[in-house]
Order: sequence, then C-alpha cells, then structure tokens
Amino acid sequence: MNINKNFDNLVPNYLFAEIAKRVTDYQTANPDKDIIRLGIGDVTLPLAPAATEALKKGADDLSKKETFKGYPDYEGYEFVRKAVSDYYKSFGVEISPDEILISDGAKSDCGNIGDIFGADNIVLVTDPVYPVYVDSNIMSGRSIIYADCNKYNNFKAMPDKNIHADIIYLCSPNNPTGAAYTKDELKAWIDYAMENDAVILYDSAYEAFITEDLPRSIFAVEGARHCAVEFCSLSKTAGFTGTRCGYTIIPKELERDGHNIYKLWYRRQATKFNGVSWPVQCAAAAVFSEEGQKQIQVNLSYYRENAKIISQALDELGIYYTGGKNSPYIWLECPNGMGSWEFFDLLLTKANVVGTPGAGFGKNGEGFFRLTSFGDRDKTIEAVKRLKDFLS
Ligand code: MLT
Repeated sequence: MNINKNFDNLVPNYLFAEIAKRVTDYQTANPDKDIIRLGIGDVTLPLAPAATEALKKGADDLSKKETFKGYPDYEGYEFVRKAVSDYYKSFGVEISPDEILISDGAKSDCGNIGDIFGADNIVLVTDPVYPVYVDSNIMSGRSIIYADCNKYNNFKAMPDKNIHADIIYLCSPNNPTGAAYTKDELKAWIDYAMENDAVILYDSAYEAFITEDLPRSIFAVEGARHCAVEFCSLSKTAGFTGTRCGYTIIPKELERDGHNIYKLWYRRQATKFNGVSWPVQCAAAAVFSEEGQKQIQVNLSYYRENAKIISQALDELGIYYTGGKNSPYIWLECPNGMGSWEFFDLLLTKANVVGTPGAGFGKNGEGFFRLTSFGDRDKTIEAVKRLKDFLS
C-alpha cells in the first residue's frame, strides 16, 4: 500500500501542536515556572449561562424516551439555522436558513471543503495565513500561491489581476494579523473572483470582535452570493472551543463548473459527518437568543479589554503592531530584528510567556509574533508586566 505522499510536503507538526509540545517540554524541565499561555487562541471564560442551561436541558431530553434524539439532520436542526439567519439579519444581511449548514466548527469545514473541489485548482491564500488553509490543500496536492501581507499594505493583500486563482481563502478580521477588510476591499476580491470564475472561502470566525464600521460577513458586500462561501464558529464568539459548533453559509445560487456548491457540500457532509449533538445545537441556538447575545457581550468586552491592555503596553514600548482592535489578536514586530522562533524561545524561557511565532503562519510572518487576548485578566496583566520587564 501507499500513503498519501502529499503528507511529506507538510511541516512536521501542526503549528499549535508544535507550540504545545515545546511548552510542555519546557514545563517538564522547569516544573516550578509559572507559564502564562497567550499562544493558541483558546478562550478562558465559561460559556454564557443561557448556553449552559440549554446544554443541560438538551442532555436531560436525551434521558427520556419522549424527548430522546438520535441522528440530527445533516444540515443541522431548523431552529438553529433559523437562529443563525436571524443573527445575520440583526446586522443587515439576508441569509435563508436553507443556506446554512451547522457543523462542529469553522476549522473542520475550512479544512474539509476541499473535498468538493478538483485537485488541479490553484489556491490563493494571503500570507501570513491560518495554517489550516495551507495544510489541508497540501494534503490534497493542490498548488498554492501566496499574496503577501506586510507592513506596507497594512497586512491586507489585494488581488493582482495578472495572477489567476480558482480558490481564494480570505479571513477577516484576520487570523493572525487582526487586519480587517473594508467593504470596498472585499468588493475588489469579489470582482476578482468573478473575473476568474473562482470561489472565495471566507472565514469570519472573528466577526464578533468588530467594533468599527466594517463588514461582519462577506455577504454584506454586493456580488458575494455569486462567488463566496462563508465559515463561522461559536468558538471565539461564545466560548465554544471545547463545546464545538460552527456553521457554513452557501448561497443556493452559487454554482461552478455546472454544479451547485450547496448540493456538493451537503452530499459531502451527509457522507462523512453525522452532525452536532442535540445538547450542543440547543446551546448554539441559545447563544443567538436575546439573553444569550447580551451574555456573550460581557465575555467579548472582557477579551477586548485584555487586547487593550496588551496594545497599551506595546504603545509604551514603542513596538509596531496591528490588530487588538476589531480582533482578539495582537500581531507585533519582534523587537531588535529578532526572528520569531528566537523571540518565542526567549519569551518562554526568560519571561515564561507563550505567544505564537509569526513564521508559523508563513514567510511574511517571520519577524512577527502573535499574542491573544483570550487569557485570564490577571494573567494578561502579569504577562504584560513580564514583557515590559524583559524588553526595557
Ligand atoms: C488559533 O489560535 O489560531 C486557533 O484557535 C488554533 C486552531 O485552530 O488550532
């Protein structure tokens, strides 16, 4: 037998698994050190009470014959899809519940969507890039082209009409840089996608962090229904990193190569995915209730305040950064021209603070570093103090 040789083209470890390994090794060798983790974007606040109540009630339903649930609908329960549709309506975007598919998160859907596209498509990603887009396409043997994001374009790559792509991944607000596209900028990508008969795979996992007048969805922009698929998740919006629930939106009219994209994805999901459990879907719907929406804002404000605390420290230190606004991530330039893994090692060993080295997100990430605002408040304050002591 043969294995999929494309795996030989991957970096040995998934970025966040590599970081976890290095941190565990360091902690094992130095058990007395109090390490503060601002690396992976994992939340630290509990679920909103509305969500936990719904989870408990959902679990209770499973204990009685009359309310027991088996396999869920492949696209997710109608009441959850309706709740997502109403949520989009609240910021002016019309999406029918029939265009929404509930899943176990944006990462899985972003990683799996490639199943419905041919292996010879050219994939365009912006670099720095969330490694899932790159790794999943390497696994499928697709060619990838990189659009540079750097200080000179405020970490927002724009389309180059001289380059052809078939599949375009965009993430806004961006992971890792926090840069967020305006409506006009997204319109330029939509026009480019239409000219190239391409599909935009739009990751809006961080939309809940937008506070300025920026699109919360690509479907807020004219023309997107003819070229875009959107992935979102409750992981960062409502603390579901462990609970797992997300959704993918595919306009019913979206077609490529004589095929309907919604139908292809539904076919793929029905074959390989058996849906999200009843209690979790109940909890997801509760997040979109009036009460749930109020409650998640409390957590989002907490994380925004953490972002402010980190940003202020960087301002004081005179360090260049992006993000922290409209985004839970702060993307900073490593001091003194340091490489990003070098800065990672120094910060871990000298200040016992973990971040994510920019190089792990691609060539344009070299020399940069990502901190998250998802930490505990006191630990974030302590991390900032250690950072200042270390750098001044
Ligand atoms: C991140 O920190 O970028 C993501 O939450 C990590 C992941 O998806 O593995």
